[in-house]
Amino acid sequence: MNRDRPETVLITGASSGIGLELARCFAADGCRLILLARSTAALEALADSLRQQHAVEVIVLTFDLAQPASPQAIFTELQTRNLTVDVLVNNAGFGANAPFTEIPVARELEMVQVNISALMELTALFLPGMIARNRGGIFNVGSVAGFQPGPGMAVYFASKAFVLSFTEALAEELRGTNLTISVLCPGPTESNFGAVARGARQRPNQVKKMTSKMVAESGHRGYRRGKIIVITGLGNRMMVFALRWLPRWLPRRIVGFYNRVQ
Ligand SMILES: NC(=O)c1ccc[n+]([C@@H]2O[C@H](COP(=O)([O-])OP(=O)(O)OC[C@H]3O[C@@H](n4cnc5c(N)ncnc54)[C@H](OP(=O)(O)O)[C@@H]3O)[C@@H](O)[C@H]2O)c1
Repeated sequence: MNRDRPETVLITGASSGIGLELARCFAADGCRLILLARSTAALEALADSLRQQHAVEVIVLTFDLAQPASPQAIFTELQTRNLTVDVLVNNAGFGANAPFTEIPVARELEMVQVNISALMELTALFLPGMIARNRGGIFNVGSVAGFQPGPGMAVYFASKAFVLSFTEALAEELRGTNLTISVLCPGPTESNFGAVARGARQRPNQVKKMTSKMVAESGHRGYRRGKIIVITGLGNRMMVFALRWLPRWLPRRIVGFYNRVQ
């Protein structure tokens, strides 16, 4: 990044978890931030702390990405304010943890809208400007879930397979430009994700989780180094590597076991 010309970074889902920690990382770089989510109070509190800590400009936008009109409205709002986005961080997302037929289809459609459609449309709106300026990039938050099917979270895992495939394809299309196109693939991470996906229900099979801070710092480092796929944590990297050699039935059996809720 050119420190004389700080980037403007739009981060979706910046009100908690990984998105909030990514905002801290880009603020430490000296970037101007545009923080977006539905929880205005949480965004304002983060904005205040980043302004104080890093003396950066922070703009707060309240939008619901489950609304199909939101991506275009966000783009128009930023154009009206004369704000150019250099880096788009598509982080907002959520899961639903139960057998497919037990999850209301309206909730699954909302997930597809937030995790896939909004991510794709925001990219379509902001990427042409980045290409014209030959500066900045797209930083999508996928998951190790994108590498395998996920019984018990079928639509969520499939949505992250889209994010992984879409990002890799874009990175290849834009090879040779100055743009960085990355997908961050965390494993289980401490955040509000589990509460949103499961409510009060629990998983009997628990695994050790990374903190959102560790995940964001690893992702941010990978993005700055121009890595296309950033898998956080050695255990997750080993798992993704092993998936290449395992018969397809085995990981889906293991994931189905792990995704059971009570
Ligand atoms: N935690 C994990 O184990 C894990 C693992 C792999 C990948 N991920 C991915 O990491 C990303 C961040 O999740 P997280 O773990 O940090 O969970 P989180 O703490 O629940 O954060 C999710 C963020 O997305 C925003 N969001 C959700 N629905 C939205 C909507 N309709 N419109 C606008 N913003 C919305 C939330 O803000 P508001 O509620 O304020 O709108 C929040 O800022 C997601 O894409 C998730 O799939 C998480």
